[in-house]
Amino acid sequence: MRFNKYKSVIGIDFGTYAIKAVELESRGDGLYVKNVGSAYYTEKVIEDGEFLNVPLLTEFISNLWEDSKFESKEVAISWKSENEFTRVLTLPILPDKEIYEAVRLEISSRYDVDVDLVAFDYAILDKNENNQEMKILVAGIPKESASTVYNIFKELNLKLKVLEPEFICQINLLKPSEDSFILLNIGARTTMLYMSKGNLINVIRALRFGGDNATDVISSTLNVSFEEAERWKKERFEQEVGYSKIMVSDALLNNFLILLREINRSIDYFYQLTYTYPNRVVLDGGGSLVVGLREYINRELGLLVDLLSLNSIVKNSEDIPDPNLYSIALGAALSGIGYKCLYKFFDNLEFGRISV
Ligand SMILES: Nc1ncnc2c1ncn2[C@@H]1O[C@H](COP(=O)(O)OP(=O)(O)OP(=O)(O)O)[C@@H](O)[C@H]1O
Ligand SMILES: [Mg+2]
Repeated sequence: MRFNKYKSVIGIDFGTYAIKAVELESRGDGLYVKNVGSAYYTEKVIEDGEFLNVPLLTEFISNLWEDSKFESKEVAISWKSENEFTRVLTLPILPDKEIYEAVRLEISSRYDVDVDLVAFDYAILDKNENNQEMKILVAGIPKESASTVYNIFKELNLKLKVLEPEFICQINLLKPSEDSFILLNIGARTTMLYMSKGNLINVIRALRFGGDNATDVISSTLNVSFEEAERWKKERFEQEVGYSKIMVSDALLNNFLILLREINRSIDYFYQLTYTYPNRVVLDGGGSLVVGLREYINRELGLLVDLLSLNSIVKNSEDIPDPNLYSIALGAALSGIGYKCLYKFFDNLEFGRISV
């Protein structure tokens, strides 16, 4: 029998089209990615934070474990902002054992949710002894969803250690920074926008834009199926020359305008809050790999644009194929090994909604 000397956890991101998973190992000299894997759904199993087909999802996860040869049985899951609730509450300083009840009371009196139906967790952000107040970050999801996830993994003989909001998984990947930046995680359907000044996250927004928009544009411009357009976008676009490339490029530029408008709106709002403009843009998520997008944002905003690099987080980041597709899963795994996010949150950050 072989014993694993190091401790590892598997982080999971339930994406729009695939489950993405990363096995992260903590060794003496730092963190290493041991394994990555993904499984495309053959039909829809999750939508807007709701589970549509639990047996099929269970099967996908089981196949993923076999194919990827994950060793650990401990998992940490990233939970999307859909049907999730996040608030920063201000409470009087209380002994630890009274905080849970106080948070519960505060949620039920101030927000339109039935607190008995919500599974929530909290983290103390700040204690101010002078005015006897503390700031608490609260995140909640429907109890039913929480128990569904728990049971799926239990059935597979795996242990759910952490269910972490996606934005924490994302922010886990950022080193503390002195400057102001915009981070865009461009997924298949949604772009998550984060803005931060120093180590304070001031803005989190979900924008209706994603890699699918580019695929739709290619599909209608070239009159090909969505699947063909998806291949074109990922593989052929770069080498293509000639008329179809010009047509697609023009159509894509128009499409990027939707995203640019939303970014500019967020920059204005950020300026109202902080009297600061961001100095750089960080891109993450598979949608950020669309040819030309990076240069477009750089040109239109006049800001430096970089893909999020994971090399300050893990020692062997160059071993991860397409790291920007797996970043959220890695961020979840970080939470799973007990990493504490180094950023703080703006008091008025109100984000997400929950309906149960
Ligand atoms: N090499 C590539 N070039 C261009 N686009 C790509 C590439 N690889 C992936 N994509 C696009 O990235 C998008 C998926 O990104 P990602 O995996 O981050 O999304 P997701 O997490 O599943 O989606 P969401 O966060 O919206 O649920 C798809 O639109 C896909 O076409
Ligand atoms: Mg995503």
